[in-house]
Amino acid sequence: MLKRVLSAAVMSLLFVGVVCAQPAWTVPDPNTLPDDAFGRTVRYGRDLVMKSSSLIGPDAPDPAMRYSGSGLDCQSCHLGGGIQRFALPLAGVWGVFPAYRARENDVQTLDGRINGCMRRSLNGKPLPVDGKEMKSILAYIRFISAGEPVGQSLDGRGTPPLPLPDRAADPVRGKAVFTQICSACHGADGQGLRLAPEDAKAAGRRYQYPPLWGPDSFNDGAGMNRAITLARFAHANMPLGTTFAAPVVSEADAFDVAAFVISQPRPHQAGLDADFPDRSRKPVDAGFGPFIGPFSATQHRFGPWKPIKAWMKANASAAGKSD
Ligand code: HEC
Ligand code: HEC
Repeated sequence: MLKRVLSAAVMSLLFVGVVCAQPAWTVPDPNTLPDDAFGRTVRYGRDLVMKSSSLIGPDAPDPAMRYSGSGLDCQSCHLGGGIQRFALPLAGVWGVFPAYRARENDVQTLDGRINGCMRRSLNGKPLPVDGKEMKSILAYIRFISAGEPVGQSLDGRGTPPLPLPDRAADPVRGKAVFTQICSACHGADGQGLRLAPEDAKAAGRRYQYPPLWGPDSFNDGAGMNRAITLARFAHANMPLGTTFAAPVVSEADAFDVAAFVISQPRPHQAGLDADFPDRSRKPVDAGFGPFIGPFSATQHRFGPWKPIKAWMKANASAAGKSD
């Protein structure tokens, strides 16, 4: 255990160098706001993003506040509190919602999108839309989005696209990649490194390294449970400290390790068959049916995806938005 923590610490130090070499991507700093109602609200929103597990999750002292059902924080995926380029940033998304979303086949508001992550990525229940917590997360996102034009997708949104492999992603090879690269932090069993209770209390977070599967991780309806989404995230951002400008994991390894991670057990989201009601807009790598077209569920989960894309293009007026 100690060896694992030490080697992870050494790796983190190595990667700090990589982070520092990056050109600055400037995002307004909530600490510059005065100690007034707006400043306090923005900073509470930032805390909610960074410390979800203790403020609106399973470690919240008041059981009524336990909206999230997982040990993750928003920041487990929206790295750096949502201000890191190509690490699923929240900075800049203020001006792109309300927007059409294929999962609902409808126009979705920003609070609806946040509650999508509450339900699936945090395996919980939605935050009340008129409550203090939702208001604060919205205020934080609005503040860190200042400078991004309304209606225009920001440079650095989401994760960078990866060319799709010609072969299927291979979970067996992926297990070897996991053991070699990811297990140093996420643990040989993928359950992460949970902080001792007093450290968790001080940090406001349950994990030093979050679990990639199991009861405390994201559920099977989450975007991260799709191989292409996870491969892109891991390629551009993992091991922690990596940035899109200098990926550590190869493209092939990223797809294979993603296939391995999404093959592991995790909580189930009910009603997934209702997602993407316009099936022609369903992502090619969705892990659950129903699908249109002649391809097996296994091919949807692991690829090869190019034939599916080609079929969608030839047979459906609007091809699936999958990458
Ligand atoms: C397990 C990883 C994970 C966690 C935890 C998570 N999200 Fe997300 N989130 C994603 C992914 C992946 C996407 C990208 C879209 C997709 O494929 O669904 C996303 C998209 C979003 C978006 C839209 C971004 C855009 O560019 O359109 C917002 C806003 C958002 N999340 C907010 C939150 C908030 C707030 C929390 C905590 C309450 C949270 N998320 C927790 C993975 C996560
Ligand atoms: C140096 C330590 C380290 C290594 C090695 C590492 N990660 Fe991570 N990973 C983290 C940390 C820390 C976070 C959460 C970031 C935060 O909370 O600030 C994270 C978050 C994640 C997440 C989103 C949150 C979750 O729990 O699902 C995924 C997915 C992920 N890592 C996949 C991988 C994969 C795949 C590899 C191997 C290719 C890998 N990581 C290697 C430290 C690491």
